[in-house]
Formats: sequence, C-alpha cells, structure tokens
Amino acid sequence: MNILVLNGPNLNMIGIREPEIYGNKTYVDLENYIKELQNYYSVRIDIKQSNLEGILIDILHYGNDTYDGVILNAGAFTHYSYALYDAINSIQIPVVEVHLSDITKREEFRKVSVIRDACIGSIIGLGFNSYEEGIKLLLEEGVKK
Ligand code: DQA
Repeated sequence: MNILVLNGPNLNMIGIREPEIYGNKTYVDLENYIKELQNYYSVRIDIKQSNLEGILIDILHYGNDTYDGVILNAGAFTHYSYALYDAINSIQIPVVEVHLSDITKREEFRKVSVIRDACIGSIIGLGFNSYEEGIKLLLEEGVKK
C-alpha cells in the first residue's frame, strides 16, 4: 500500500509555533516518526507539506493515480476550505482527516471541519499518534471506499 501524508499550512512550524498546543517536537521529528511507521505496517509512505491551498489540491489530484490512500492534516483550511472538500470528493482514493490537537476543545471556529464529510474518518487530539491511528484506519477501512 502506498500512502500519502499531506500536511497543510503552518504544520512546518511545529516545535516553534504554540508549543503549549503542538508540543516541542519539530516538523522533521514528525517526518521521522511517520517514516518509521513504514516498516511496522508494511506500507510505503510519502510525506508532503504546503502552505498553499491550490498546491494541496493539485497534490490530491495527482495522488489519485499514485497512492492508495491519504492522511490529510489540512491545518486551518479544515475549517473553511470548500475547495479542499471538493478536491477530496474529486478523487477515488480514501482520505483520513487527522489533527495533532483536539479541535473540539479549542476556539469555536475550530469545532467545524468542512472537510470531515468527504473523509472516511477523523482522528484528532493524539499528537503524532493521530497519524499512526490514521494509517491504521486506512488499512482497516481504506479498501472499502
Ligand atoms: C491542526 C488544527 C488546526 O485548527 C490548526 O489550524 C492547525 C493544526 C492540528 O493538527 O491540530 O494548523 O490541524
């Protein structure tokens, strides 16, 4: 199974941004953590990050022919990007929404995910572990979509 982990805006700044929310580990630490899951779950994982909505959409479109599933942390686009919602619905491969923080326990605007209904599942609030749980969900459910 080929999996794409796609991270959106400001995820590259973890370790620096709001450590009380996102912790002290850096984006490189996150990449290393995710890469180590490859052997354990016998999957191939590519990791990409962009701060730009259109690039995330392009990567999702491209991913349709390249990957079997996507783990998507759309950052703040989660809360208002109908274009990302449409992009997820435009592709056939399953997408799992993940978040490091528990978006249900933060500001009001974060409680809404406009991409959730396009995804096969949503894993929030587990820090780096959200990505591992996302991979497990893809392996369990992914083939069904
Ligand atoms: C986030 C939560 C979003 O609300 C926020 O805009 C982010 C990170 C998370 O992983 O907890 O950038 O997606």
